[in-house]
Amino acid sequence: MSKKIAVIVGSLRKESYNRKIAEEMIRLSEGKLEMEIVEIADLPLYTEDLDQEPPAAWTTFREQIKGADGLLIISPEYNRTIPGALKNAVDVGSRPYGSSVWPGKPGAVVTSSISSLGGLAANHHIRQAFVFVDVPLMQQPEAYIGNSAEIFTEDGRTLKEDTAKFLTSFIDSFQQWVEKF
Ligand SMILES: Cc1cc2nc3c(=O)[nH]c(=O)nc-3n(C[C@H](O)[C@H](O)[C@H](O)COP(=O)(O)O)c2cc1C
Repeated sequence: MSKKIAVIVGSLRKESYNRKIAEEMIRLSEGKLEMEIVEIADLPLYTEDLDQEPPAAWTTFREQIKGADGLLIISPEYNRTIPGALKNAVDVGSRPYGSSVWPGKPGAVVTSSISSLGGLAANHHIRQAFVFVDVPLMQQPEAYIGNSAEIFTEDGRTLKEDTAKFLTSFIDSFQQWVEKF
């Protein structure tokens, strides 16, 4: 049976390239991994005060992560680091203390940017954020997708061949990584 993967997109933008990459990776992973986007846009900013009576959006998110066998993070870089919405999701999942939903879930990170740098700084900051919550992230291959406005076909619907090929091999490695756990 395919492993269930929670896909978290670090951009909340309607026309987000990262979301489009996520949707394409879901399509490319059919028959290999059961990937589904877990939404983070409606998660209130984390504070322990609110956790006395957790907002419904937090509870839903925590349950979705708990039910997943693995995690795929697909994110832009904001000011050379991790977007706030994504970091908030990490924090929400990590509490209440002792009930974190993250530990031991195998994960992988893809970053993309409209520049040629491919979100390299964010990619490594995302990795750092997942160290303390004990998520083993795949080391290789790494995925820094540059020039994200130019990687889709004319109609904007699908990825051009070279990026699709690279991400397919990334998915194959990720499938092997997830199977190890
Ligand atoms: C607040 C903000 C900060 C950004 N900082 C960076 C950055 O540090 N490095 C970078 O390559 N692109 C940066 N960008 C540009 C993003 O790469 C670009 O907006 C990209 O399309 C965002 O991903 P999305 O299409 O999935 O929303 C930034 C964009 C925003 C809105």
